[in-house]
Formats: sequence, C-alpha cells, structure tokens
Amino acid sequence: MIRRASALAMLLTLTLPAAAEQVGARAKGGFPESFFMEKVPRAEANATAEKLARAVMAARMIIFAYAGKIVDPTLGDKGLSGDALESQWRSAVEPDLIDASPSQKKIFEKLFWAGRQVMDNNQERINTKGVGWKNFLPAKWEREMGQVFAARTGIIIKQPGRAYRSPMNAPDDTERAALEHYVKAGHGENKPLTSFAKWGKQEVYRHMEPIRLIPACLGCHGKPKGEPDMLGFEKDGLEAGDVIGVMSVTVGLSD
Ligand code: HEC
Repeated sequence: MIRRASALAMLLTLTLPAAAEQVGARAKGGFPESFFMEKVPRAEANATAEKLARAVMAARMIIFAYAGKIVDPTLGDKGLSGDALESQWRSAVEPDLIDASPSQKKIFEKLFWAGRQVMDNNQERINTKGVGWKNFLPAKWEREMGQVFAARTGIIIKQPGRAYRSPMNAPDDTERAALEHYVKAGHGENKPLTSFAKWGKQEVYRHMEPIRLIPACLGCHGKPKGEPDMLGFEKDGLEAGDVIGVMSVTVGLSD
C-alpha cells in the first residue's frame, strides 16, 4: 500500500509541472493602443466623459418611460424603434452638443448609432405579444449599447453595480473603490470621481459618478432585502436616493 502510494507520488511529480499554471486566469498585459479607435485630447477628456455619462443617463430615462408599455402583454408594437429612441435621445442631448468639439461630435454620432443598433436588435423581443416580462430594461440596453459602442470606438461605458445582476456589470478595482466611496458618503455626494490610468501603452481617463435609485426602481432594487423581485433576483433592500451602481466611462487620450 505504502509502496503503491509512493509510486503514485513519483508518477505525479513526473507528469505535473512543479507549479501548476492556473487555468482560466486572466492573461497579463493587454489593451494595446490600437484598440482605441476614438481618443480625445487630454484637455477634452473631462468634458467628453461627463457629456457621455449624461447622455447615457438621458437615454435610460427615455427607455424607462416605456417600461409600462413594454411589459404589457396585450400590446404588439411598442413604438420604441431604434429611430424613435434616436430622435428623442438627440433632442435630450442637444444642449450638451452645442459646445461640443469636432472629436466629441464624432464620438456622439457613434454613440447614437450604437444606441439605435441595440434598440433595433431588441424589436422582436419587446414587440412580442402575449408575454409580460420580456427581459428588456434600461440597464440591459445600456449594457448592450456599451459593448457595441466600445467595439466601434474603444471608449468603455459600463454600469458596475453594488450587487450586480449581470456578470458584465462586475466592478474592477477602481469601480469598486468608487462604489464604496458613494455608499459610505451618503445621499449628498454626487461629485464624479476621476483618475488617469495606464492600460498597456495607452493612457486613459476614467470618470465615475453615482447612479441613484428613484421610487420606480424599488420593485426590484428596494425592500425587503433578499426577497425575490419579479424576476427572481434577490432585492437589494435599498431606498430612493441610495446608490445602486456607478456610471463608469473610460476614454483613451490622444496626447
Ligand atoms: C423589473 C426589475 C427592475 C427594475 C424596476 C429596475 N431594475 Fe435595475 N436591474 C434589473 C436587472 C434584471 C438588471 C440586470 C440587467 C442586465 O444587465 O441585463 C439590472 C441592472 C441594473 C444596474 C446595473 C448593475 C447590475 O445590477 O447589473 C443598475 C445600475 C440598475 N439596474 C439601476 C436601476 C435603476 C436606477 C432603476 C430605476 C430607474 C432600476 N434599475 C430599475 C432589474 C430592475
């Protein structure tokens, strides 16, 4: 028995590398400069990130206004096509584009394009008759829009959550620190947290601001904590005004 065990141990040391490499670990390095199709001059980084964050919040609100229609099983066409979203979104964002630089305007065209694509992609889903919950929410639109927008521009727009539902909304270290800051600071603290960072060879500007709950959100993110919401997720136990996530914008710098 002892001899068999030691023979097995010998076999293992022969076949396994000394320190086994972890499988499923994140590759080191990465984020090459070529990933960033749209970059902004350092002097414009702050205003660009702020305008992008405001624009995405505005689109969330436009979509949220359709929430009642979207979950109505008796309705077919909900009137929220890509075009319908885009035209309302452009009017909402117009004041912010008046003083936009040419590079900001170019970025915004790609933002509207991404938002429209995602809305068009979801038409079949939201216009299905006879079903109440269709798994379409402002947060879902934003997650998908962020991916399409990042694929085209390299600018990353995310909404990491304090108890995230989608794994895509898991915070990185900087985002987690921002979440902790806003949770600890309480309702009055809305000043964005900004920083510069180096991603591979590329310097980036990061902007984070709190996303706060309004009464209409509490059916899923409110009380009692732990009780299933209508989708089966555990409710967060939060109140109106509490931070639920951060709007996180990362832009590459051109100088
Ligand atoms: C019907 C239930 C429901 C309501 C109402 C709701 N949410 Fe959510 N929320 C979700 C679900 C589900 C997700 C995951 C969406 C996804 O990524 O597909 C989510 C995701 C989020 C996220 C991203 C972090 C995460 O948890 O993944 C934020 C931020 C967020 N919601 C804020 C809000 C705000 C603000 C409101 C009100 C304006 C609101 N939600 C209303 C269900 C809800």
